Amino acid sequence: MTITPFKIYDSEKSNLPTKIFGGEASGIRDWDNIKWPTMLEINKNLFAEYWNEDEIKLGKDIEQYNSKLSDREKYVYNTLTGMLNKLDSIASDFNMFLAFMVTDPSIRSNIALINSFEVLHNRSYQYLTSTMLNDQQKKEAFEEIKKIPVLQERNEHIFSKIQKFIDAVTEYLVSKKEIDDEFLQVAFEGILAYQNLEGQHFTGGFVYFHSLARDQKMIGSNNLITMIKADETQHSEFYGTLIRILMAEYPQLNTAKNHTYAMNFIKVCAEKEKQWAKFIFQGIDTFSMREYANYVEYLANIIARNSGIQEPFPDNKEIRSRWIVTYGSKKRDSKDSKQIVTRTDFLQTDATNYEHSTGEDYDY
Ligand SMILES: [Fe+2]
Ligand SMILES: [Fe+2]
Repeated sequence: MTITPFKIYDSEKSNLPTKIFGGEASGIRDWDNIKWPTMLEINKNLFAEYWNEDEIKLGKDIEQYNSKLSDREKYVYNTLTGMLNKLDSIASDFNMFLAFMVTDPSIRSNIALINSFEVLHNRSYQYLTSTMLNDQQKKEAFEEIKKIPVLQERNEHIFSKIQKFIDAVTEYLVSKKEIDDEFLQVAFEGILAYQNLEGQHFTGGFVYFHSLARDQKMIGSNNLITMIKADETQHSEFYGTLIRILMAEYPQLNTAKNHTYAMNFIKVCAEKEKQWAKFIFQGIDTFSMREYANYVEYLANIIARNSGIQEPFPDNKEIRSRWIVTYGSKKRDSKDSKQIVTRTDFLQTDATNYEHSTGEDYDY
């Protein structure tokens, strides 16, 4: 299973790839001849979501940021934006390294698309902070997130696994090793950690913005956040699929030990997310800690379900706070007179219809 040197084209090999890591493929993309047909569907769904941050107008938000938000609400707004920007920075680099290793071209193409969204998300946080804050405040917000111990601890739990994977990729690329079980295990754990970043730590952070919108505050910011959320939801589904593919292609990973490991890992992510929430949402009254904890457990279950892992919180199968669905679903601005957007939120089972008129903001 030699993986290097990476061949941009190998005419000796079939267009149909053999495996996700250490496999063989000509490199030619033939979307009628892919190993996992869902990759074409994912590719189309990703393309369907493209947007630009300036579709969302923030004029009213600037006014409200200065007149309606308390000092604590401003601090949380700034810190969360900085935190989310940091996660998306990690996301961009993880995807790049992962793509180096993947020997299934259709999967590689999807990772490339996902990465383009991560870049867009970084730009969106830039747009939010540059609109609301002056240079000094923005610098402080982006620095503040490096100093909060409980956030460091939450992040370290996943970053350490992601870094280990990146180190393993580097080692394999430089020394032209062969793929072995040790690498596969590191890849499994790294992708699982990354999936928690996508499906739990991102999505949890978005709730604050939904809660402000429910309070008729910072509606433009929340609209932007819901665009990002729809993407992260797709990404979480994709990485869940990848974990299933890994398990299917390498039965040595599909063990009771790894299933237990994965379930516990997701559970610990949820507990660390709750600890971070206790810190950051002190003094915030637009939602309760109980609501947040329930939602985090629900997200943890979704991650597990997407990955084919047993749910860590069997008592929290449904979203209990329906406002998270109402204010957390994507609504897209339209230059046309009126538009009805129908989306099936991946976090719920039923479709929700939204009707809105053209204008700077939406009516709820
Ligand atoms: Fe992102
Ligand atoms: Fe993402």
